[in-house]
Amino acid sequence: KTIRISNARVDKAGHRHFMSKEIAEQPTVISEAIANYVSEEARSIRLPGEGIDFRALNRLTMVACGTAYYACVTAKYWFEQLAGMPVEVDIASEFRYRQPPVTEGTAALFVSQSGETADTLAALRYCAGKADRILSVVNVAESSIARESDLALPIHAGAEIGVASTKAFTCQLTVLLLLALKAAHARGRLDDDALAERLLTLRGLPAALNQAMSIESSVETVAQRIANANDVLFLGRGMMFPLALEGALKLKEISYIHAEAYASGELKHGPIALIDEKMPVVVMAPSDALFDKTVSNMQEVMARDGKIILITDQAGAAAAGDGVWQTILMPDVNPMLAPILYAVPAQMLAYHAAVARGTDVDQPRNLAKSVTVE
Ligand code: G6P
Repeated sequence: KTIRISNARVDKAGHRHFMSKEIAEQPTVISEAIANYVSEEARSIRLPGEGIDFRALNRLTMVACGTAYYACVTAKYWFEQLAGMPVEVDIASEFRYRQPPVTEGTAALFVSQSGETADTLAALRYCAGKADRILSVVNVAESSIARESDLALPIHAGAEIGVASTKAFTCQLTVLLLLALKAAHARGRLDDDALAERLLTLRGLPAALNQAMSIESSVETVAQRIANANDVLFLGRGMMFPLALEGALKLKEISYIHAEAYASGELKHGPIALIDEKMPVVVMAPSDALFDKTVSNMQEVMARDGKIILITDQAGAAAAGDGVWQTILMPDVNPMLAPILYAVPAQMLAYHAAVARGTDVDQPRNLAKSVTVE
């Protein structure tokens, strides 16, 4: 498939790879995405066209592939916690052949950077005529998925060239969070002032992302230390679980290091058998209500000589105590925004591990930017 973009727009802007440029662009593109959806006085969320009436919906089914799928898994937490809305998330290639019932009051939401992924498009066509609304969150506004939706919500990430998705992921998350906030407001879970407060918090995200960019050299050091590992395990709890999945996906896509992710609580149900002194374990954990439980998981790993790489904030680093092999220190962030901010170290870790191994970062072997065939 030909990507139609002018040369001026595909410039690496002084970066060695598109991926590194696209990681660095995140504060800017996310700020654009927010500006496109949030009113000037930060009191309401504007959607294109007729918008969505969340009061008329009782269920959301989200379907996608790859990184876009992990954006959906993250968004499930937001829709459930903020809007009290039942959400199902599915991988498009499974969803399309399972003949899942689409019950009354269901909105089907398809997330795709390219808007052309064959399985996601087929899943959308399966839902057409069955779901109350067909929604999509896309980067390419003229894409098939956008055209065949009742309402397409653009993520405003700009052209993404690196095969491994970075800025499209965080822009997808931003738009999905805005949708969850919209749903929470419509369903009476957030009043006008509470919505405004959340929107002001969200407006602070680009600044937090800018701050997070300064961790790059510490992530690079850690990445060089794991570049020779055969396997890396990622752990996360709550909204950090889908982030762990995305971190593992990024690492295997571009560095070819085998990586797996587990919900921290699942450690004892299998992966703990793999832990030894050769196994780096990346723990993504801002100091939140579940942090103590994560500390016990880390102790279980350390007791078996596993090497912990802890990505956390100041308070988390202090609470983690001794024995952590490497710590990557993140700025403090509102828990609602943590998955978006913590995408940055996950991306940088994969990027620098790949650079250290000398792989083709922007065009990893066997992968395509847009998978338009099954
Ligand atoms: C490919 C890309 C991934 C992407 C996935 C879904 O596998 O390499 O980066 O996440 O397709 O693509 P989409 O365009 O639907 O988001």
